[in-house]
Amino acid sequence: EKRTPVIAGNWKMNSGSPAEASALLGGLLEACPKAPACEVVVCPPATALALAADTLRGSAIALGAQNCHFAPSGAYTGEVSAAMLTGVGCTHVIIGHSERRQYFGETNETAGKRLAAAVAGGLCGILCVGESLEQREAGQEIETCAAQLAGGLAEIPAEALAHVMIAYEPVWAIGTGRTATAQEANRVCGEIRRLLAERYGTEAADRVRILYGGSMNEKNAAELLAQPEIDGGLIGGASLKPESFAAIIRACE
Ligand code: G3H
Repeated sequence: EKRTPVIAGNWKMNSGSPAEASALLGGLLEACPKAPACEVVVCPPATALALAADTLRGSAIALGAQNCHFAPSGAYTGEVSAAMLTGVGCTHVIIGHSERRQYFGETNETAGKRLAAAVAGGLCGILCVGESLEQREAGQEIETCAAQLAGGLAEIPAEALAHVMIAYEPVWAIGTGRTATAQEANRVCGEIRRLLAERYGTEAADRVRILYGGSMNEKNAAELLAQPEIDGGLIGGASLKPESFAAIIRACE
């Protein structure tokens, strides 16, 4: 059975004001195919989610957030819960992005708790894994991903796996213009699927969408997306440019 590809745009901390978000969403709605051959998700900053939900209603573009807390509510200054995200119209959420790990103390354990809360709250979680340059140079890319998967999926039982996607994002390729070669990205995504199979069985693992992220753009997307183990992309920089994002979506056709 063929997996439907997913193209997800992570705006990161960009275009979060109403004026900027409106402009970008308008551009995306205009540029993106109305009946894409893939699932399309955009993940704006939290301040733009309500506006984005309104703007995207009825379109082929789904809405995601960039993080969610593991508690339903309470004294967690600066955080947002899964129920708040579904309440504002989100269907997806990015969990454990490398920038959260690098700058905000996210660990495999906290990513696991966030993912569990997201899925229990009705969201599809996009769990990010990937090695740093140092880990890559030490030949530790697979063991790094394995540890991130073990922690991130710790509270995800087999019956919840349908609500999880994995994004393989080698940290050295994020925002650097340096993409993993298609073959190398495919190899690691294949290893990730093998690790999923160890945990959940081959059939369940074969249904999980594994996205590649890291300097994906309209030039390299087709080759990356043609790889058998790569089921889509998590796009940073190029998701802020409607024409580039649309071209990546069309590369799924
Ligand atoms: O979440 C997206 C990734 O971090 C990739 O970002 O496309 O700007 O390299 P990038």
